[in-house]
Amino acid sequence: MLRGALLQVSESDLVRGAVVKAPVSRGVVQRYVAGEKVPDAVRVAGELRATNRLSTIDYLGEDTADRHQAEATRDTYVALLEALSDEDLARFGAAEVSVKLSAVGQALSQDGDAIALENARAICEAAQRVGSTVTLDMEDHTTTDRTLETLRTLREDFPWVGAVLQSYLHRTESDCRDLAYEGSRVRLCKGAYKEPESVAFQDGTDVDLSYVRCLKVLMAGDGYPMVASHDPRLVEIAQALAGHEGRSPDSYEFQMLLGIRSGEQKRIADRGHQMRVYIPFGEDWYGYLVRRMAERPANLQFFLRSLVGNG
Ligand code: FDA
Repeated sequence: MLRGALLQVSESDLVRGAVVKAPVSRGVVQRYVAGEKVPDAVRVAGELRATNRLSTIDYLGEDTADRHQAEATRDTYVALLEALSDEDLARFGAAEVSVKLSAVGQALSQDGDAIALENARAICEAAQRVGSTVTLDMEDHTTTDRTLETLRTLREDFPWVGAVLQSYLHRTESDCRDLAYEGSRVRLCKGAYKEPESVAFQDGTDVDLSYVRCLKVLMAGDGYPMVASHDPRLVEIAQALAGHEGRSPDSYEFQMLLGIRSGEQKRIADRGHQMRVYIPFGEDWYGYLVRRMAERPANLQFFLRSLVGNG
């Protein structure tokens, strides 16, 4: 309930303005966001690499309402991939990129899907040139079918493109079955948007149970599961299922967000597992930060203080 209320309050322009300007926001932002520019993201990917962690980098910004903005986002991704290659971080996908289709045009009222596909294709071409990969983030449920359709099209030319599925959606176990084929990369997360009862589980336990059912399908399948969760129980269950299916450590990976359970990230990597960290960067960090705040009541204190400039 708190999560829903917070997500709703955050949509107010007044609240957004106050948070973006408040000095304490900067401290909170630094924990979860690499910085505002390409070199910030490359630096953090390098630091993670030094502690044996892989990365996937997201240039923040979503629901782009302007075609030029969508193209600028595409160009930033291309520049990012080249900068990662210059630092020798891109090869074998050690650092890859995560792309929200709404940031590259999907939300445009005219030809949104076609524009997003064209921009995503240019990002995939750049990734292919430097030996990296791309994963399509998943946004709210109204975009799921279109995102999976774009995935199918991109995979005809770039069979390594990955997708995200959200266990809070009723449909996801079936989507996992469809995507558990050889070469398919699926990042399974719980889901971060406010979704109606008609399409999504509302109770945390139901979301977790769905996550386990989805994991079973992915681990038993022929694809490459990417276990994106900070939940210690789910990480343990994923390891047990991988063992049960006789999977080698290079046939799946764990993923967590920058700034969340960093000690555990290092421990997982040190135990010989593949551990990838999701690194967001960019000036448009507000929506991302709100979702992270909403996930954990303890973070709310920082967030509320930022509103009154009392940090
Ligand atoms: P849960 O929220 O239950 O947290 C489990 C434990 O992790 C908590 O008890 C706490 O210890 C710790 N924790 C979690 N969040 C924290 C926080 N903000 N601060 C401090 N501690 C925290 N979602 C989506 O809808 N579309 C997408 O494309 C993606 N992509 C994505 C990529 C990757 C790599 C990750 C890790 C996550 C996503 N997500 C996402 C977000 C995801 O849906 C989900 O909202 C968060 O991962 C939180 O869910 P957990 O599985 O971690 O469980």
